[in-house]
Amino acid sequence: MNTTTVSLENLTSLCKRRGFIFQSSEIYGGINGFWDYGPLGSELKRNIRNAWWQDVVQRREDVVGLDCSIIMHPRVWEASGHLSGFADPMVDCKSCKKRFRADQLCEEQGTKLIKDGAAFKLPEGTKCGNCGSREHLTEPRAFNLMFKTFVGPVEDESAVAYLRPETAQGIFVQFGNVLATSRQKVPFGIAQIGKAFRNEINPRNYTFRSREFEQMELEFFIKPGTDQEWHEYWVAERIKWYESIGLPAASISKYVYGKDELAHYASACTDVMYAFPFGVQELEGIAARGDFDLRRHQEFSGKSMEYFNQETNEKFIPHVIEPSAGVDRIALALLCNAYREEWLKKDAEGGEIIAAEHGKQPPAGYEVRTVMRFAPRIAPVKVAVFPLLKNKPELVEKARSVFEDLRRRWPCFWDQVGAIGRRYRRQDEIGTPFGVTIDFDTLADNTVTLRDRDTMKQERIAIGSLADHLHQFLD
Ligand code: GAP
Repeated sequence: MNTTTVSLENLTSLCKRRGFIFQSSEIYGGINGFWDYGPLGSELKRNIRNAWWQDVVQRREDVVGLDCSIIMHPRVWEASGHLSGFADPMVDCKSCKKRFRADQLCEEQGTKLIKDGAAFKLPEGTKCGNCGSREHLTEPRAFNLMFKTFVGPVEDESAVAYLRPETAQGIFVQFGNVLATSRQKVPFGIAQIGKAFRNEINPRNYTFRSREFEQMELEFFIKPGTDQEWHEYWVAERIKWYESIGLPAASISKYVYGKDELAHYASACTDVMYAFPFGVQELEGIAARGDFDLRRHQEFSGKSMEYFNQETNEKFIPHVIEPSAGVDRIALALLCNAYREEWLKKDAEGGEIIAAEHGKQPPAGYEVRTVMRFAPRIAPVKVAVFPLLKNKPELVEKARSVFEDLRRRWPCFWDQVGAIGRRYRRQDEIGTPFGVTIDFDTLADNTVTLRDRDTMKQERIAIGSLADHLHQFLD
C-alpha cells in the first residue's frame, strides 16, 4: 500500500509536469469536472482498457464485445429509470449562491442526510460549506445528472436526447441482436468500454469524480436462480484482476451492501474499494440486478427479451450480474499506488541503493528519486534505450538498431540527452520498467547494460537475448 507517501498535491504536479493528466481547456481557465490525458496518460489508460478487454473478453469464450452510440433513443432512459430517478439531492445557499450535494455536505459535517419517504431532509443545524450560513440553505431537491442535448435542427421537447450516464443500457437494448448473431448461450456476457457523462454537482478529488469519464462494463446474463454463485464468481475474478494490474491486495477492499442499501430489484452488490490518499473509495461496483433491465426494456419497447434454451425447452428473461468499473478511477489508483519518493545513497561499488522511502527532505549525502512503480503490464513506456554518448556516431547507430528492434514489440523511448544517471531518473519518474544502455563494450561484444527501475540493478545481457528476456516481464 502506498497511501502514506503519496500526497494528491505531489501526484497532481507530477502528472502535469510529465504529461499524464492536464486540466481540460486549461488555456481558457479550465472547465470543472473535465480532464485531458497527455501522451503518457493516454498510454496508461489504453493499457488499462486493453488489460480489461483481454481478460474479460478476448481470453474468455463466454463474453463478447459491443460498441454502442453515446446518444440513444430517449425512451431508453425512461425504461432504465434514469429519467425519473438518476438524481442526487442538491442544496443551494441563497446567501453565497454555492451549490452542494446534500449527502456530501452532511458527511463533511459529521451528520447524515435524512430520508423522508422519496424526499430528503437536512439534519437540524446544517450549515453552508462555503459561507457557514445556517439560515440560507434550501431544502434538498432532486437534481438529474444526465446531460441534455437536442438532436437535429429544432430545439424543442421532441428533439431532446441525453448523453449516456452509463454504457450498460446500450448492452441491454442490443441483447437480442447480440444473442442472434454471436451464437452465445446463457450464461454469457456482453462487454463494452466507452465514455459516460454525468453532470455531477460537485466534481472532486482530482479525476475521481468527473463529469465525463470512461466505463468498462460487463453484463453477464445468467439463468434465474444462479445469481448468488455468479455474483460471488465475478467479485473474486474482478479482485484478482486488480491485483494483476499491480494494485496490492492490502490496498483493495470490498464493501458489501446491506439488504437495506440495495435497489429494490437487486439481490446483491459489492463495491471494490481502493485506499486513495483521500479515503477508501469505490473503483467498481458488482451488482446482481435480477431481470430488471431486460424486463423494463421489454415492457417499454414491446420487443421480447426472452431467451429460449433449445436443449431444455425453457424460456426465461435472463438475470444479470453487472461488474461496472471506471477507467479514470483505476488510472488514478494506479498512479497513487505507483508514486514513490525514495532516498538514495551510493554503495561501496559506487552503485545506488535505496536507503529509505520517504516523503520528506533527506539528510545531506542522500539524493531523492521520484519513481512510478507501475506494473510492467500497465507502464506507459516499457523500455528506454540510451546511447552512452550522443556524439559518437557508432554508439548512436548501434543503439538506434536496438531501439528499432524493440519498438516493434513494445512502446519504447529514445533518449540521448544528458548524463546517463539523469536519463535513468527521467524514466524512473514516468515509470519505465527497463533501461538499455549501449556503450563501448557493446561495440566489442554485442552486450548491453539492462537496468531495472525498481532495484536499480544493472546487468550485462547479449543483444540477441534481450527481447526474449524482456518478454518474460512485459507480455
Ligand atoms: N451501470 C452501473 C453504473 O454505472 P456506477 O456505480 O454509477 O454504476 C460504475 O458507476 C463505475 O463508474 C464506478 O464504480 C466508477 O468507477 C465509475 N464512475 C461513476 N461515476 C463516475 C464519475 N463521476 N467520475 C469517474 N468515474 C465514475
